[in-house]
Amino acid sequence: MTVYEALKIYKDRGLPELEAYLVIKKITGKTKEYLVAHPEYQFCEQSFFDLLNKRLVGFPLSYLLNEKSFYKHNFYVEEGVLIPRPETELLVENALKVIDKEKIKKVAEIGVGSGAVIISILLETNCVGFGTDISKKALEIAKKNARKFRVIDRLDLRLGKFLEPFKNEYDEIELIVSNPPYVKNNSNLQKEVMFEPKEALFGGEDGLDFYREFLSSYDLNGKIVVMEIGHDQGDFFRKKDWNVIKDYSGNDRIVIKDFRR
Ligand SMILES: C[S@@+](CC[C@H](N)C(=O)[O-])C[C@H]1O[C@@H](n2cnc3c(N)ncnc32)[C@H](O)[C@@H]1O
Repeated sequence: MTVYEALKIYKDRGLPELEAYLVIKKITGKTKEYLVAHPEYQFCEQSFFDLLNKRLVGFPLSYLLNEKSFYKHNFYVEEGVLIPRPETELLVENALKVIDKEKIKKVAEIGVGSGAVIISILLETNCVGFGTDISKKALEIAKKNARKFRVIDRLDLRLGKFLEPFKNEYDEIELIVSNPPYVKNNSNLQKEVMFEPKEALFGGEDGLDFYREFLSSYDLNGKIVVMEIGHDQGDFFRKKDWNVIKDYSGNDRIVIKDFRR
């Protein structure tokens, strides 16, 4: 089939033209500029329909393209790992402010997923990172990204809950960051989100299970903690005297607490 025919089919199914170019680019390896200039270019029809049919049932574009832009870089993603969200860039920004102000050298992330958060932090600093996840798949992808961005020698990634895999290193950790699963179990989510791993999304009846278990299991004295929260979860933290920061849409999004004083 030609690029011209593929674009028409894609648009006729109600999907955006820009996306069609990305999908054809993935199949052909040609740049968008080349495809725009050569609508007569022939490529594999079967591959096109395979990807189109997945999109039509809501399979996320980032999984099809195996990439997601986050903060300043393009991270590798695939099915089985959470696609990093733009609002999580605020977690990176706040962590970086803390690192700079407090001259932090050792940062841990709980629930690294694709590694987008901790790797973005390491790329902006000289910090050493410790990362955990309960998902083997997530750790595999995070390691792939850590190699891609050449921070693998500064990032120790281990399988396990919270910071259990780093019991021996725990005392050295100065800053803990996390974007944990905080969606309420009964939430109605867009069909695309349903293709993402459940353990990355759901945080119990009120979405706060992760925070409750983490805060009751760890002695945080001497550390700073920066976490992402859901838009309606700020009060849980305000009551505990945390600093709650809003995102650019005016929703509660980041919580910070300095346990050193
Ligand atoms: C919302 S995703 C965040 C992924 C990535 N940090 C990001 O922001 O794109 C949460 C991640 O935490 C992991 N996770 C959930 N509970 C965990 C726990 N108790 N300890 C460690 N990892 C956990 C999930 O497997 C998932 O990869």
